[in-house]
Amino acid sequence: MIHARVIKVKNPEEMGKVAADLFEALIQTKPACVLGLATGSSPLPLYRELVERCKAGKIDFSRVRSANLDEYKGLSGDHPQSYRYFMQENLFNHVNIKPENTIVPNGQTEDVAAMCQAYEKQIEEWGGVDLQLLGIGHDGHIGFNEPTDHFPAMTHEVELEEITRQANKRFFNSIDEVPTAAYTMGIGTVMAARKVVLVATGADKKEILYKTLCGPVTPQVPASILQFHPDVTIICDEAAYPL
Ligand code: F6R
Repeated sequence: MIHARVIKVKNPEEMGKVAADLFEALIQTKPACVLGLATGSSPLPLYRELVERCKAGKIDFSRVRSANLDEYKGLSGDHPQSYRYFMQENLFNHVNIKPENTIVPNGQTEDVAAMCQAYEKQIEEWGGVDLQLLGIGHDGHIGFNEPTDHFPAMTHEVELEEITRQANKRFFNSIDEVPTAAYTMGIGTVMAARKVVLVATGADKKEILYKTLCGPVTPQVPASILQFHPDVTIICDEAAYPL
């Protein structure tokens, strides 16, 4: 059983506010902090809140550095479904973060091993991730670490599960356009973060949250490794609340 803090909120908007409070507190105490960021639907209310607070002068991103969890293999940063594009549209273009202080794995790299190593090195040179934001997939993936027989340590290439491609096809014209592979931080990269905040909303996340919190720690449910992380906060709405 996990020793994480589990915060139940009424709806996604409240989740965004509660998560934004954690970001705001960190950025105030450590203006040059390193954020690990996620894409997908779950973080959107949080990003809206961060944009508002930045515009209101409450949060200053001028010294913040950020490293995203993952990127689709093959997509360029200006492809509307790439995660770089998502971050620009939903956060970076609307806050005063410096472009050179934001990194997302390069989906079009020609040298996968070198790109993955450089990604880890950059995070290390920045001093490691202070706060890692996570969503959770229906199969328990975090980042794009899909269920498998081990916990991958570092940033690496992964084949996407059919369930994940199906879940993400809502953003593409058809399933055929959804990439079959991606680059993702490893479970080791995620576990090295000083603090982890996982956001989840909707009844469809309830069962996997239960397995994450209360099930055995197994690479078949990658998020279950969070039971071994010393500082995890899970923020979920009533529909997703598993306990
Ligand atoms: C996205 C990511 C994924 C998502 C997960 C949940 O960067 O790493 O693990 O967090 O697929 O996605 P949503 O929030 O769209 O349900």
